[in-house]
Amino acid sequence: MSVRSTIAGVGAYLPERVMTNAEIARMVDTTDEWIVERTGIRQRHIAAEGEFTSHLALRAADKALSAAGVKAADLDLIVLATATPDNTFPATATKIQAELGMSGGAAFDVQAVCSGFIYALAVADNFMKAGQAQTALVIGAETFSRILDWTDRSTCVLFGDGAGAVVLKAETRKGNGRDRGILSTHLHSDGRHYNLLWVDGGPSTTRTVGHLRMHGREVFRHAVVHLAEVVGEALTANGLDPTDIDWIVPHQANRRIIDGTARKLNLPPERVITTIDRHANTSAASVPLALAEGIGDGRIAPGMLVLMEAMGGGFTWGAALARL
Ligand code: ACO
Repeated sequence: MSVRSTIAGVGAYLPERVMTNAEIARMVDTTDEWIVERTGIRQRHIAAEGEFTSHLALRAADKALSAAGVKAADLDLIVLATATPDNTFPATATKIQAELGMSGGAAFDVQAVCSGFIYALAVADNFMKAGQAQTALVIGAETFSRILDWTDRSTCVLFGDGAGAVVLKAETRKGNGRDRGILSTHLHSDGRHYNLLWVDGGPSTTRTVGHLRMHGREVFRHAVVHLAEVVGEALTANGLDPTDIDWIVPHQANRRIIDGTARKLNLPPERVITTIDRHANTSAASVPLALAEGIGDGRIAPGMLVLMEAMGGGFTWGAALARL
């Protein structure tokens, strides 16, 4: 009997402080109109001084665990997707493990920038299918505000901080075709584009943390193509048609990328969960934040088919199809 990982609970956390476009327009040469028109972003949340990625992750994890009715002691795997860890090492996931009071199993970080949550979900799902984990916590958490160049208007307007988490449980499939859980995951990368979206620092190169740098127009061009491809791949792998999808939960990088992908699938905007206006791009946190919002307000209900997709630095991109 084959095993499938089911999504037993979700949780999200956003730092209290909200930074509006108007506030950024006082720091760099930009306007609310430019940001809204080009990106759809109106505001973002910014972590407080002394509030780290692990703190945001823990808040989201606690909510996901209680939504799932799972105790930390029952977990045997934590996978944290982040490009902004608390420290260069050890993995921030181990800090979360200790804070949760979970001493068994394994905890580690996965680094695929904005695609990080899809990568982490795929890793955890494969652990479950291989029988190496029964109950997993998958988190996407970021404090991108710490790696932004706040004098660069072309990047500092785009990102925000936050965290989202899901609890996965291994369940034996009944094989009736409508089994709940993750149906498939699809990961890709193309390292030739390393320098189109990167951080110009790191322990081995500059011994400093560095700042995010991006060729936005190039990233945009690749994002639209790769996201449409990987979404098509996920549908074909499952013998599904775009009309079978109840909700798309996309990575929130730019309203125009989200709309473009939905258009290619012929899906109306009413079936896309969008948080970009309030959260901006929270990198690895954006998909679980959007998923938590859709489930929390009742739009995404049990039994519905949800397609998650993301693209980020590397380039990396991927999709995951799940029946809630
Ligand atoms: N305010 C005002 N003007 C600005 C700003 C700003 N904040 N930022 C850039 N501009 C100017 C530029 O200087 C340029 O001026 P110029 O023509 O005088 O040189 C002009 O606006 C156009 O700049 P472009 O970069 O060509 O603008 P574009 O329409 O491509 O929009 C944007 C830029 C929003 C970054 C877009 O390219 C984008 O969203 N790209 C995707 C990148 C992304 O989201 N990356 C996130 C991580 S990867 C991912 O998640 C997919």
